[in-house]
Amino acid sequence: MCQTESLQCGCKTLPARSLSPLCTAATLRAPTRKLPSRLHHRRAAMTESPATQSANGGACQRLENGLKPERNGLVKSLHRCQAEEEEEEEEEEVYATSPHDSLYSRPFIESFEETPMLVAVLTYMGYGILTIFGYFRDYLRHWKIEKCYIATEKEEQKDFVPLYQDFENFYTRNLYMRIRDNWNRPICSVPGAKMDLLERESHDYNWTFKYTGRVVQDVINLGSYNYLGFAENTGPCADSVAEVTMKYGVGVASTRQETGNLDRHEEMEKVVARFLGVESAMAFGMGFATNSMNIPALAGKGCLILSDELNHASLVLGARLSGSTIRVFKHNNMQSLEKLLSEAIVHGQPRTHRPWKKILIVVEGIYSMEGSIVRLPEVIALKKRYQAYLYLDEAHSIGALGPRGRGVVDYFGLDTSDVDVMMGTFTKSFGAAGGYIAGKRELIEYLRCNSHSAVYATSMSPPVVEQIITSMKCIMGEDGTTIGRDRVRQLADNTVYFRKRLREMGFITYGNNDSPVVPMMLYMPAKIGAFGREMLKRNIGVVVVGFPATPIIESRARFCISAAHTKDMLDRALSVISEVGDLLQLKYSRHRKLPSLLRHLDNDVYEDIDD
Ligand SMILES: Cc1ncc(COP(=O)(O)O)c(C=O)c1O
Repeated sequence: MCQTESLQCGCKTLPARSLSPLCTAATLRAPTRKLPSRLHHRRAAMTESPATQSANGGACQRLENGLKPERNGLVKSLHRCQAEEEEEEEEEEVYATSPHDSLYSRPFIESFEETPMLVAVLTYMGYGILTIFGYFRDYLRHWKIEKCYIATEKEEQKDFVPLYQDFENFYTRNLYMRIRDNWNRPICSVPGAKMDLLERESHDYNWTFKYTGRVVQDVINLGSYNYLGFAENTGPCADSVAEVTMKYGVGVASTRQETGNLDRHEEMEKVVARFLGVESAMAFGMGFATNSMNIPALAGKGCLILSDELNHASLVLGARLSGSTIRVFKHNNMQSLEKLLSEAIVHGQPRTHRPWKKILIVVEGIYSMEGSIVRLPEVIALKKRYQAYLYLDEAHSIGALGPRGRGVVDYFGLDTSDVDVMMGTFTKSFGAAGGYIAGKRELIEYLRCNSHSAVYATSMSPPVVEQIITSMKCIMGEDGTTIGRDRVRQLADNTVYFRKRLREMGFITYGNNDSPVVPMMLYMPAKIGAFGREMLKRNIGVVVVGFPATPIIESRARFCISAAHTKDMLDRALSVISEVGDLLQLKYSRHRKLPSLLRHLDNDVYEDIDD
């Protein structure tokens, strides 16, 4: 029956073997062959989706060995598994391979170490105590025993329903306010490898701030998304931008369809298409709006959007505005995605069971809170098998990943034609502003007429356009130098070095070895504020993140590595992180990697520390 039935997916007919994951697993299992066990270690880090079982070989055996799958299909701790399997290294085992040998052409190492039990308990207790104190202080404020600095209801409005949700208000007043000084700090320089901050102080427990008039200078910047160091005010890009500003001014005062279509816009879109290796591209004035305004132009009622649970707010908003049905799969988990795809094909739309008009899988290149990289080879395999479309948001990966800096497709050595909608932003690696959609010519022509942000928004400012053109040409080497290529390489080196040193120090970091976004776990609410402040005292600027941007027990610092960071800067930052880590007891890892200069990654030794 599996082989003979067929059903409709949108306007296309799918072979019936797409009906069931079991069926697919069976039909796809390739002949087995012997692989060296070292290869097995690496493959084992991949997902055990039926779609990719054949590629991942022994990963399923790992699960049978009793280790739990992690949030994205990984075993809980890659490190521990590697250590355990080191013992078995000599044994030759039999693994299944895909007909194409492997979906991955390079090692894919990602880890999410489990939160230590004691830390989890203390973190929940911390939030519990803060909440109890919050209610107690609200009680004191109600009876005017404690002075309340927040805006109070006017007498004539006191019978109105509250404008904000109650808990949000409570959280802001009692938890966020204690550490508010860690955010919105005004910067008064280029956000380069170093930056200057305006000093400010609060005399009312962070309700208001006053500027002291002093400037905190030369703070090492570990927070900006300045991956390739193009956020700069000197050099060829800045010179060219200044020239264009003198010629065109800053404002365009019209939309692209009217009088806002400059020759520089046309040139920029050609450069973007060339950079990505696609037929055509279109740029928009804001990255957020690129997602939120273009997804509704591509999907609508009767369509199904399959969205990663950690997708950016702009993707979530776009999906909601489109009116499509949205189903969410576990972060980077191919089993979860395949389950949704096969269910969508089998059951079709709710009630009517008609086939979905369109299925759109929406993923990001690098996830900016987790530091994980999308399992693109597997997503593409699934999208092809189930004949769905793929929307890839490369906001953080474009420029920052791949041997040529051309994003996650370049990183995996894949073909851009396998991604239906390539999206990215100019705000990070290119030091500019705005976003793009790229792909087939028909797609872009369609969006030029149908996307709200294309039709109704004023076009991009000329200096911004020039910054995009010059930085992209520099990365491609079209400026006649190797500056761009060197920066891409420098970023990759800095990333691996920084991540490795943090692991050696005993911190828990999340994400992929090659991701320049490096989350370092803080966990406890009191440590969020303390870490940010202690780092700034030592002239290092960091971003700290807590609930609701992360799960409640997974507060973290998020470092963004840049090609502009020199080794001295990274070493200085690392030594300060270590010092503050000791002060606040942040070295939580039970699988601390012992430092060694000449050890290959596969042979890493881990020191297991019992609870
Ligand atoms: C994945 C992702 N998409 C879109 C955006 C929005 O881009 P922009 O900040 O350029 O508006 C961001 C912002 O950080 C992002 O992380």
